Amino acid sequence: MFGRERIEYKTADQVRAMRRAGLVVAQAHAAVRAAVAPGLTTADLDAIAAEVIAQAGAVPSFLGYYDYPATLCVSVNDEIVHGIPGPRVLEPGDVVSVDCGAIVDGWHGDAAFTVVLPDGDPADLALSDVTEQAMWAGVASLAKGERLNEVGDAVEDVVAASGTPYGIVQEYVGHGIGTAMHQAPEVLNYRTRERGPRLRAGLCVAIEPMLTRGSRATRVLGDDWTVVTQDGSRAAHWEHTVAIGPDGIWVLTAPDGGAERLAALGVTVAPWGQDAL
Ligand code: MF3
Ligand code: CO
Repeated sequence: MFGRERIEYKTADQVRAMRRAGLVVAQAHAAVRAAVAPGLTTADLDAIAAEVIAQAGAVPSFLGYYDYPATLCVSVNDEIVHGIPGPRVLEPGDVVSVDCGAIVDGWHGDAAFTVVLPDGDPADLALSDVTEQAMWAGVASLAKGERLNEVGDAVEDVVAASGTPYGIVQEYVGHGIGTAMHQAPEVLNYRTRERGPRLRAGLCVAIEPMLTRGSRATRVLGDDWTVVTQDGSRAAHWEHTVAIGPDGIWVLTAPDGGAERLAALGVTVAPWGQDAL
């Protein structure tokens, strides 16, 4: 879909503008994460994120995107991505994936996390943990690798090492990001012989694996947005926006730039410039 366009390589100033958008997304995440609980509706979560983004003087990137009607995507249980917030009341043990995008001065940030409401099934917690680990391994591969397809290798390796046969969703992928939310190149979450573009300074991508506890087969609901697993198995989704700089990578949607999680993977984060936010 956006795979064949030219890549928009960013300058240091442009990456710093994207960092501001990334931090707004991180703020919205923090507010939603602090509030999410059984008894709230998914629309309640949307209102919280909308308020944070407005207060920051930013603009939600999903709202109006191909007529998408909300600030967040909130995908519950067998919903994988693109769940539309509404009157659905969250219940104990629900698996809730929250995806948020914001625009500052025309530059986009995009990130997602999954939370399992108490008292969740340990197997759902493991699903979310492995998906998060897969995301961080994919992010780290941007620092360690030479070509973009190494993200897919890293995701598959984490899933294999988990010892659980999770489904890796293939129809929805990570993407370049910058002056638009979705740009070239596509970032696949599975192994492929196509090596993809070289990993070099100025490349900004959203890394976003989606795993299921069953088959990877997906289906879109009648609302034309909500993507669910065909077999009803539960799914998790984690995402960060990452910039590759001259000296390393910078996770624009993580408050610490990814420093803590990447250190554990042997990667040192390299923010762009002295005044990097
Ligand atoms: N954040 C999603 C992605 O990662 C896109 C949301 S689609 C929208 O690609 F229409 F809701 F914006
Ligand atoms: Co995305």
